[in-house]
Amino acid sequence: MDRIIVEGGHRLQGQVTISGAKNAVLPVLAATLLTAGRNEIHNVPGVRDVTTMLHLVQELGAVGDHIKGDRVTLDTAGVNNPVAPYDLVSTMRASCLVLGPLLARLGEAKVSLPGGCAIGARPIDLHIKGLEALGADITLEKGYVHGIAKQLKGTHHIFDSVTVTGTMNVMMAAVLAEGETILENCAREPEVGFLAEVLNASGAKIEGAGSDKIVIQGVTSLKPINCRILPDRIEAATYMIAAAITGGDVEVLNCNPSHLEAINLKLREAGVGLEERDNSLRVQGNGELLPVHIRTHPYPGFATDVQAQFMTLMTLAKGRSLITETVFENRFMHVAELKRMGADIVIEGHTAMVTGVEQLSGAPVMATDLRASACLVLAGLVADRDTVVSRVYHIDRGYQDMDKKLSQLGAAIRRVR
Ligand code: EPZ
Repeated sequence: MDRIIVEGGHRLQGQVTISGAKNAVLPVLAATLLTAGRNEIHNVPGVRDVTTMLHLVQELGAVGDHIKGDRVTLDTAGVNNPVAPYDLVSTMRASCLVLGPLLARLGEAKVSLPGGCAIGARPIDLHIKGLEALGADITLEKGYVHGIAKQLKGTHHIFDSVTVTGTMNVMMAAVLAEGETILENCAREPEVGFLAEVLNASGAKIEGAGSDKIVIQGVTSLKPINCRILPDRIEAATYMIAAAITGGDVEVLNCNPSHLEAINLKLREAGVGLEERDNSLRVQGNGELLPVHIRTHPYPGFATDVQAQFMTLMTLAKGRSLITETVFENRFMHVAELKRMGADIVIEGHTAMVTGVEQLSGAPVMATDLRASACLVLAGLVADRDTVVSRVYHIDRGYQDMDKKLSQLGAAIRRVR
């Protein structure tokens, strides 16, 4: 089990390059199941969730490789197995993204129900309702979602509530359905729009993705996918906060500032200097941090995946901040660990009240999910002694080389086995 040891007190400066977005590459890997040829995906991040999804699509019959660095090739001509096994799905909830493509490609899908995870129960009822609206006959048996669909038919479906992967799953299934599908109350995350662009480049007919209403004209087949994954906006936000909290001066390269507007607004409110360029952002912390109230919300609101990292920043602000988590029911697992480092945080329901302190103190800490782990590393950057973050596999699920990228910016950070 790896651990990361951070020695606090080092101001970050220099440049950091953002990798491809984990939450864009996972649906694209699932989308390759809709094609029957040799797909090529560039700018793929070297993170554990990508490896898991690759194993899953290979289990389903794809033949592929994650070529050194950032390229994945996948030949999906031989996809013939509709069963996504528990041992793979249970390690990564996003595996449920193969449901829609399998139903569309093979007419059948048998996907283990994803277990809950630390941040909440995370059911997939909204995915199932959308796929049933397309004509799939879905039953739950022995922990598996089993769907049959001779031929999916276009429909008009309104999601009960906003779901990112639910929107993606149903959109992918609708691409090969007969006739027109209208989806409303869709997720507007940039990764949804990106997935639609990739599918349209392979012959799909999708309009409106990125807005809350998506219209899809079904087609009979798709050409193989060839694309370059867009930058990871959550990784970018994480390093921006790392620069801000250390009072540093960092250029975040290969990011898309327009995907970070809600975050940038709140960082500016907190007194952080931000200069936006076409595909980079310069972040200057000038020491004094001001308290800011945030409420997480589906895009374009403040991303829930940046909530924990922003809370770390607010533990040192001059005053009181309110942080309300509206997307997941249990995404304050990092609070207890931050308090062990000396943060002053009180939780009332879905709101955390953070009162700034002078200094955090290093401690052995552990996290329960990807973003909580990242927030503890950020806290370690400014704590007065060493912070030892264990269960680092959470970080490796979604951040490529975080310790290397931070040490290149001047952090005193090392990974120990
Ligand atoms: C995606 O998860 C992301 N994962 C999450 O990032 C992110 O936190 C989340 O969207 C919200 O932005 C990927 O894209 C792989 P949802 P997803 O369906 O799609 C409830 C990370 O750190 N819900 O939008 O699973 C659900 O429980 C991860 O990279 C249902 O009730 O999130 C949650 O409360 C963490 N029924 C809310 O909706 C459903 O069928 C939003 O979930 C589906 C969701």
